[in-house]
Amino acid sequence: MLVTREEMAFDFQGAKLDPVKDKDVIVWAVQQFLYGEITGVQIGHWLYNAPDLESARFLSRQAVEEFQHVGNFLRILEILGAQPEKAAWSVRFLATGLMGGDWAEHVALEMALGEGLVLQAFYAMIDTVDEPEIVAILKRGVRQEERHVDFGERQTAKAIAGRPALRRRLLGLALVSLWGVSRLEAFMKKRLPMDHPALKRLPDLVRHSVRIAELRLMRIGLTDAPISSLSTGRKLALVAEAYAGKLALGVASWVLSVLLLPLRLLGLAGPKRLTDTYLSDPLVVRGGQLGAGPEDDAGDAGEQAGPGGSPARQHGAAARA
Ligand SMILES: [Fe+2]
Ligand SMILES: [Fe+2]
Repeated sequence: MLVTREEMAFDFQGAKLDPVKDKDVIVWAVQQFLYGEITGVQIGHWLYNAPDLESARFLSRQAVEEFQHVGNFLRILEILGAQPEKAAWSVRFLATGLMGGDWAEHVALEMALGEGLVLQAFYAMIDTVDEPEIVAILKRGVRQEERHVDFGERQTAKAIAGRPALRRRLLGLALVSLWGVSRLEAFMKKRLPMDHPALKRLPDLVRHSVRIAELRLMRIGLTDAPISSLSTGRKLALVAEAYAGKLALGVASWVLSVLLLPLRLLGLAGPKRLTDTYLSDPLVVRGGQLGAGPEDDAGDAGEQAGPGGSPARQHGAAARA
């Protein structure tokens, strides 16, 4: 990852969340994470639209991992003696309603930025929840989430290379997401008990998370100057350009889809997929070296807890198949 674990670390000053006394707040957080992991179904869309074989292989493994994480959070709820329940409206909207419109938006906004923010929340849970089995489950999951964020960072850098307009559009959209996240700080200050040693630190965690996300965007190359140094006018211009760009792209692709419909019906036009391009794919051209990828490792994909605490080792095999 372009931002290290040390940089992402937040100092809770030893404050803890007790699995009995603070059960409600831990359970609430887990319900939101559970929903986020279920949105792993969206990977099916990106797999079908994957630009190359390397990305397709990564996404197929990621899908397996996200559904292992579903098992992890179900197990955590079981440990806490709670039932899965509906996630908050805002979480459902952020995770589903703001799904990326194209590959660049997906890797930049959902993987590098979005999963980066979720990773920050997982680290916070690891540092505060005072229950060893829950912490052990979360620790195994974050190794995989770190790889998802890393992939998002690398793919975003690749996508924006030589494309300044796309770079500005992604930055504008990211600013909107970060503005939404930063609103949480004031909301938490009003709602959370400020006499609780861990919970009173959450507004500061939000501010820290936004700062880290801005650092990540800068290291990816979406901006040369720190976001905090951009004027409000410059930020508004970036946001306006991003949404105008999205609108123009949406209209253009609608017009194109209408014009090309007769050809599509004959199977003569349509987006190029791996089934069309695999013979010229860099991984195939390089000579059939399709064994373990650089991100594959020996054990952790097979170590996730399934519901009821049973290890879901069959997924580990599937992940590397
Ligand atoms: Fe996950
Ligand atoms: Fe993930």
